[in-house]
Amino acid sequence: MSIVINTPERIAQLAAQEYVALLNKKPQAVLGFATGSTPLALYAELVLLNRKGELSFCEATSYNLDEYIGIDGIHEQSYRFFMDRSLFNEIDIRMEKTFLPSSSIADEAHLAEFDCEIEKAGGIDIQLLGIGRNGHIGFNEPGTPFASSTHVAKLTESTVQANSRFFLSADDVPRFAATMGIKTVMHAHAIILIALGAEKASIVKTALHGPVTEAVPASVLQLHPFVTWYLDYEAAALL
Ligand code: PGA
Repeated sequence: MSIVINTPERIAQLAAQEYVALLNKKPQAVLGFATGSTPLALYAELVLLNRKGELSFCEATSYNLDEYIGIDGIHEQSYRFFMDRSLFNEIDIRMEKTFLPSSSIADEAHLAEFDCEIEKAGGIDIQLLGIGRNGHIGFNEPGTPFASSTHVAKLTESTVQANSRFFLSADDVPRFAATMGIKTVMHAHAIILIALGAEKASIVKTALHGPVTEAVPASVLQLHPFVTWYLDYEAAALL
């Protein structure tokens, strides 16, 4: 299903209601979170609703999609730092129940255990996703096998360039990241994908209506029964 709405704030309000419904019904829900610019308005809305007492995360568990390899959680560009600052520090989730894939290359052999932990926790109830301009979800770049579990991925040059806006220069962007695999994402019970802005219009059209192919990782979502695409007018312009 795709929902086209005019502003990121309105998208955030509507998407946040999915979390309200879930957490009120199932306080111990398992949430899959994402980083990037796209989820920021949603996180601000979740913080607001949590402060107003309309939803609580105190029994919830979270698993993040990905983390850069080689920078630790106190680095401002680590996804742990991003999540703490934009969401976890501001809501009543228990920090020890927030998980990201390991940023240490030494843990590479154990990354598939991330999937086992998620399954043991009952599976992800709502997985939040953004979409890269090349169709990536998490750091699953074009060509990633649909059968992949959590693993170390090499960033493509286009992703390094896109993410360099957060670093002093492109040279400072880590070249590798630990990411949930496509199979990990597809195991989520429900998925929310948010895409904002004209730069996402072409890939949104390809992912939603083009062939399902590993060349366009997000196209796999056509095979998932419970995906909601929240699009602003610009991102939906080519549909
Ligand atoms: P963005 O990134 O939210 O910063 O556009 C999305 C993504 O690359 O998955």
